[in-house]
Amino acid sequence: MKIIPGKASQLLAARIAAELGCEVALCEFRSFPDGELYTRIIDDVEGRHAVIVQSLIADSDLIALLQLIDAAAEEASRVSAVIPYLGYARQDKKFKRGEAVSIRAIARSICASSALTSIFVVNVHDPAELRYFDVKPKELDAAPVIGDYITEMGIDPVVIGPDEGAESLARAVAVPHGFDYDVLQKKRLADDMVEMKPKALDVSGKDIVIVDDIISTGGTIAEASRILREQGAHDVYAFCVHGLFVQNAIMRMHHAGIKEVVSTDTVESAFSRVSVAKLIANSLSTLE
Ligand code: R5P
Repeated sequence: MKIIPGKASQLLAARIAAELGCEVALCEFRSFPDGELYTRIIDDVEGRHAVIVQSLIADSDLIALLQLIDAAAEEASRVSAVIPYLGYARQDKKFKRGEAVSIRAIARSICASSALTSIFVVNVHDPAELRYFDVKPKELDAAPVIGDYITEMGIDPVVIGPDEGAESLARAVAVPHGFDYDVLQKKRLADDMVEMKPKALDVSGKDIVIVDDIISTGGTIAEASRILREQGAHDVYAFCVHGLFVQNAIMRMHHAGIKEVVSTDTVESAFSRVSVAKLIANSLSTLE
């Protein structure tokens, strides 16, 4: 097995290789003057199982992934793709007539190469969208490593999903470690009045971990934090699997009273304190 690190996942790819004790291929990534990408796997992957690791954060990451699959397929005996953050997954249905189902378009382009035999993803927005892939991805769950990290912090929080969609993640983080969990629920009081509060638990005086699959602008977390603090929560932490942190997300969450922001390294940033490398390495080792 040889790990092919995509531009978007250099650090994670190196960590996965270290876990597996296998080599990392040197690659070249650059742009032509007109902006088109040039991608080359410099090291030899002849007859090897090439495992490409590339999150889809920027649009150009998809192009680079397709280029790496194409290049690897020329020489490798087998090609797998690890896509730790699968971008475009939130547009998984047609909400209005004429809209593209973006994740379907992405899935089709990735699976167009018959050389690709396995795909791994980490916590997709909705597992149902994996049906669009001809090669069904194996979805890995970062909840256990997030739960371990919270335990190492020495806190005993209530884990809160900011909406009902985050309930399964909150449960998966909390239950193995014996933490209580809940989700915020919207209750319409009048036509123009919505109350948001935890579905069942009293958070007063408690430390809180808000956990979501993605933090993008930080708006969801900031709103959840304000509500929980109004209800008397003590320290409020924000955890996510995929930390995109666009615009002023960090400041926004800080102003809303978030004490600390933690994400995994599916999207690499200064907040990537939890690594999914071992999780991915363990799954890859079952392929050999
Ligand atoms: C939405 O469905 C996701 O699970 C996240 O809650 C959302 O992407 C967070 O976005 P933002 O940080 O911009 O509020």
